[in-house]
Amino acid sequence: MNDSFSRINLSKANFDEIYVQEDPRGYFSVLGALDYMIPDIAEPIVRQLVAAKARASTERPLVLDVGCSYGINAALHRFPLSFNTLRSRYANREMAALSPQELSRLDRDFYASWPEIGQARFIGLDVSEPAIRYACNVGLLDAGISANLERGPLSARDAEVVRKANIILSTGCIGYVTEATFKRVLDSLDQLPWVISFVLRMFPYEPLSEAFEAYGLVTERLAGATFVQRRFRDVEEFQGTLAALAENGIDTAGLESEGRFHAELFVSRPLADVRAAPLGEIVKVTSGRNRPVGARYVQVETERGVRIALEP
Ligand SMILES: C[S@@+](CC[C@H](N)C(=O)[O-])C[C@H]1O[C@@H](n2cnc3c(N)ncnc32)[C@H](O)[C@@H]1O
Repeated sequence: MNDSFSRINLSKANFDEIYVQEDPRGYFSVLGALDYMIPDIAEPIVRQLVAAKARASTERPLVLDVGCSYGINAALHRFPLSFNTLRSRYANREMAALSPQELSRLDRDFYASWPEIGQARFIGLDVSEPAIRYACNVGLLDAGISANLERGPLSARDAEVVRKANIILSTGCIGYVTEATFKRVLDSLDQLPWVISFVLRMFPYEPLSEAFEAYGLVTERLAGATFVQRRFRDVEEFQGTLAALAENGIDTAGLESEGRFHAELFVSRPLADVRAAPLGEIVKVTSGRNRPVGARYVQVETERGVRIALEP
């Protein structure tokens, strides 16, 4: 881990314990209580980028989710679900009584019961072996690798698993991982991918964008938008984060100063793709999209054409 990331991490609360459980109940309970929302906030952006990648290439998008945990980004992309829907599922007292094996079996059926709405398939990388096992068992990931690529290279088997990925995604993970992980992944791929990173503002992205440049990937930052990750857990985390941001000369007024972590979006792509469609043309940010509202009219594409439905 680079020194600057290690130092910044000291200001952040430690959640290692909930990353390594056999199933995601602890994850949703603890992070849900802190209004963790980055997978929800990222989802419409990821969907637009996946669609753009699908248009730009003949191959089906295959996303390698770095720091995928229990496969939440895959769940939200592939099925009409949200972080909060899943959180409510696990908060149910009957769910709390199940063994991890029973829960995993039910979750497999649960995910299989939703229509696929995503254009991408997912594979995952996480240091947590139980999280990867769960995400594969319930069918969210086609394959996964549990490894710490900060410490060493991919095994031959793991390199084979990631080889075909053409999009690399991460939410809530940069800071735990650095350019070291990404370089090892890039060295294992058949092609240059698109790299989509949601990064807390206190982690400088230059070490990653510079590393990507050496592979021929050009990095763009989406200007004028930030993405809320979660609220600060306690006063120590709040003050430590404000101090870390101030140290990097970042103005927190109206953002972190109001009590929540903010991330930015960085996307790295081959120059020809950037020239063909700059990031600002692909991604439209719609504020308020994720807020619960009353019933609303939606268009549904059916075999008999577009129909109107009232969605509760
Ligand atoms: C805050 S969670 C984010 C999970 C998921 N992307 C999301 O947004 O819900 C951070 C994840 O990074 C993983 N992680 C920590 N260090 C890692 C490493 N060196 N390599 C891969 N994953 C790591 C943790 O196990 C955890 O699942």
